[in-house]
Amino acid sequence: MSMYQVIARKYRPHTFSELIGQEHVRTTLENAISQQRIAHGYIFAGQRGTGKTTIARILARCLNCVEGPTANPCGKCSSCIETPLSGAPDVIEIDAASNRGINEMRELRENVRYSPSRDRYKVFIIDEAHQITNEAFNALLKTLEEPPEWAVFVLCTTESHKIPTTIGSRCQQFSFRSVDFQEVVSRMEWICGQEGITADPEALAVIAQAGEGSVRDSLSALDQAIACCGDNLGGQAVRDLLGMYSLASLERVTNGLEENSTSAMLDIVAELESAGKNLQHFCRELARYFRNLLVARITGKDTRLIPASGQEQVRMRDVAARFSEEDLTRWLQLTLDIYGQLQYSLQPRLHLELGLMRLVHAGRMKPIEDALRELTAAAPARTAPPAQQPPPAARPQSAQPQPPPVSRAISAPAVSRPAAPPPPPPPPAAARPAAPAGPLKDRLIAELKEIRAGAMTVQAVEDSQLIESPAGVEFIATRAAKMGLMSKDLDRALTKLMGRAVKATITINETAAAPPAARAAEDAGGAEEARQRALAHPDVQKFQEMFPESQVRGVRDLKEYEP
Ligand SMILES: Nc1ncnc2c1ncn2[C@@H]1O[C@H](COP(=O)(O)OP(=O)(O)OP(=O)(O)O)[C@@H](O)[C@H]1O
Ligand SMILES: [Mg+2]
Ligand SMILES: [Zn+2]
Repeated sequence: MSMYQVIARKYRPHTFSELIGQEHVRTTLENAISQQRIAHGYIFAGQRGTGKTTIARILARCLNCVEGPTANPCGKCSSCIETPLSGAPDVIEIDAASNRGINEMRELRENVRYSPSRDRYKVFIIDEAHQITNEAFNALLKTLEEPPEWAVFVLCTTESHKIPTTIGSRCQQFSFRSVDFQEVVSRMEWICGQEGITADPEALAVIAQAGEGSVRDSLSALDQAIACCGDNLGGQAVRDLLGMYSLASLERVTNGLEENSTSAMLDIVAELESAGKNLQHFCRELARYFRNLLVARITGKDTRLIPASGQEQVRMRDVAARFSEEDLTRWLQLTLDIYGQLQYSLQPRLHLELGLMRLVHAGRMKPIEDALRELTAAAPARTAPPAQQPPPAARPQSAQPQPPPVSRAISAPAVSRPAAPPPPPPPPAAARPAAPAGPLKDRLIAELKEIRAGAMTVQAVEDSQLIESPAGVEFIATRAAKMGLMSKDLDRALTKLMGRAVKATITINETAAAPPAARAAEDAGGAEEARQRALAHPDVQKFQEMFPESQVRGVRDLKEYEP
C-alpha cells in the first residue's frame, strides 16, 4: 500500500545508537543532555549527507521526550513519534535555501518569543544556514543574544566559513566528518539484510567508494543499484552503473607509466572513447587512484585513509612500491590538472591523450639519492695531475684522461654567484654530423660576425684556445675573456655552425696573461679557478646531465668539513 521510500529516509537513525561515525558529536551531546547543559545555539558543520539534519532531529527528540531531557528517549510519547516525521509542533525546520530573507527571520523572531505549544523546548533546525542573508543573520543574532530559556537553534551547514563569526561565537560548533568506508559498507550490509537483497562485497565497496564518505550519497547509490540490478547486486554491474573503474583498468595506466609507453596511453583513451565513457569521470577516478597509491606508498600498510577493502589495499601497495613518492605526487598533480582542463575542453579526447602522455614524460625521474649513490659508486680512485697541466680536452663520454678530481683538491673559499644556465645536453653520438673543414675558431668568428654578435664575444673567442670534443667545445681563455664567452650569441653561433646544440665549456687558463686589474683580485681569482675546476669535474657534469635544471650555486673547500 505504501509508496517506495528511499533507503536514506527509511533508514534515517532516530537514536544516537543507530548512528555510524560522528562519535565525537554523539558523546558530547549525550553528555550535555544527561548533565542538562543545553546550549541555545549549535552549529553542525561539515560534508553533505553525514548526519547533520539527522542528529539535529535526534537532539530535538532527546530534549522533548516526556521522560527527558534524556539521551535515551522513550520512543513512545507523541514527541518521540512525531519528531522523526517532522510532525512535532515544537520542532521547527527551516530550509534557509528557500527562506533566506529578513521577513522569514522576523517571523522566526516572533515565533521564538512564544513558549512551546506542547513540549519542553522549541527547537529550530535551520538547514543550509550559510544561505541566510546578512540582514536575516542580524535578526537571528538578536535572538541568540537574548534567547528565551526554551529556545534551541541548530544551524546546519556545509559551508561553515560563511556563517558570521558574531553568530558562530554564540553557538557550540561541531564539525561532521566524512564517514569511514568500512562503516558505510557495514551499514549497507545491514540494510541489504533488512531489505532481502544479496550483494557482492565488491558491489558494496564500489557503492561506498562512489559515496566518498557521504552516507546519503552511498545510500542513494544503493537505491540506484537496486533499481537497476534488482535483488542481486554484482560488482561489475554496479561498477558500470556508477561509472567506477576497477583496479585492473586503472592499473593499465600505471603499467604504461612503468613501461614509459605513450602508445599504451593512446590505447587506453581509444578504448574509453569507443566504450562511450565519460573522460572527465575517468580522469577523476584516476586522480583518486593516484591519491590512494600515494597514501599506500607513504603508510605502507592497511589504512582507513584509503576507501578500499584489505585485498584492494594490498594490491595498491604492490603497485605503489614500484614508484617513488615524488613520481606519484607529480602524477596526481598532473591528473588533477587534466581533470580541470577537461571541464572546459571542447576536445576532451585530445586533452586526455595529451595529458596522459605528459604523465609518461614527467614520470620516473630519478630520486636524487639514487643519482648520488650512482655517482659515488661510479667514481674510480683518481690521482691529482701535475700542476699547470693544460685542461683536458675530453669530457666523460670519451675514454680520455680524467680532469683533476674535485674532491678535496679545491682550496678556495665559497663562491656564491649564480651559475650561467646549464648548456644543452649533447645529443646522442649517432646524430652528430661530421664537422666541416677549416679551423673551428675561424669559422666561429666568421659566424659570430654573420649574426652580428657583440664585439666582446668576438674578441673573447679570438683570445681563446678552442678544443673540440664529442661532448662539445671547450674554450681555454683568460679570466677577462670569460664574460664574452658566456654570451648567448656564442651559443647561437655554435649551434648554427655545428648544426646542433653544442655544449660550450669555459676553462680559465691561469698561465695566460691577465690584466693587472684581475691580478689585484687574486683571491677572487683562486675562487674562480676552483669553480671552473669544479664545473669541469666529470661528476659535476654527469650530475648536470641528470638534472638539467640544476645550477652550481657555490663551490666549497671540503677541507672545511673535515673533523
Ligand atoms: N552518521 C550517520 N549515520 C547513519 N546514517 C546516516 C548518517 N549520516 C547520514 N545518514 C543517512 O543519510 C541520510 C541523510 O543524512 P542527513 O540528512 O542527516 O545529512 P546532512 O548531513 O544533513 O546532509 P546535508 O548537508 O546534505 O543536509 C539520513 O537519512 C541517513 O539515512
Ligand atoms: Mg541536512
Ligand atoms: Zn519519548
